[in-house]
Amino acid sequence: MKKLAPSILSADFTNLASQIEPIEKGGADIIHCDIMDGRFVPNITFGPFIVEAVRRISDMPIDVHLMIKEPDRFIHDFANAGADYISVHREEVVHLDRTISFIKSLNVKAGVVINPATPVATLDDILSAVDFVLVMSVNPGFGGQKFISYTLDKIKNLNSIRNEKNLDFLIEIDGGINLQNAAEVAKAGCDIFVAGSSVFRSDDIAQTCLKFKSILNAD
Ligand code: DX5
Ligand code: ZN
Repeated sequence: MKKLAPSILSADFTNLASQIEPIEKGGADIIHCDIMDGRFVPNITFGPFIVEAVRRISDMPIDVHLMIKEPDRFIHDFANAGADYISVHREEVVHLDRTISFIKSLNVKAGVVINPATPVATLDDILSAVDFVLVMSVNPGFGGQKFISYTLDKIKNLNSIRNEKNLDFLIEIDGGINLQNAAEVAKAGCDIFVAGSSVFRSDDIAQTCLKFKSILNAD
């Protein structure tokens, strides 16, 4: 069963509860939280305080995507705030094995993220240790960008490595996902689909989630 993870980055923060209710109604599976520090990426969003607020208004699993410098310093805070999944960027973390083990020790699913220009090969040795791999299909920092099509090859590549080596990590994609390209990405072997603007900027959030889910699980 493929999962839809709407990113609240594109939601209306004046009433977060009114934005989360329709994604729950529309059958979304995970709430994706984009954490940006203005240093690793050229934008600032929010921290554990908002994640904790989301936790209080929903029982859905929360996926925290850390686009920050020195993420190790904040992993504990996000786990305490209620994160069920936490991912860190390959480009930022030096002692990746230690960071992944630390996330898992907090009973949180641990993921590694690669930017569009970072090769899948840089993950070879960590794939057996992670719960999921997040492939960025835009350069991180902003919602509403265009899907970079060559990142589809990374999904295919990760899917074949997973099959060949008999591994069980999940594959997640993030950036520019919409109702038009979701089927192709699903076919490539992706499991979790982050969608920000295509969900929250649509006329009917619940209907859009339902449409996504039927495309993702068409087979
Ligand atoms: C980009 C973020 C994404 C973004 C996705 O840095 O990691 O999660 O919110 O938004 P859309 O779906 O609008 O590209
Ligand atoms: Zn994200």
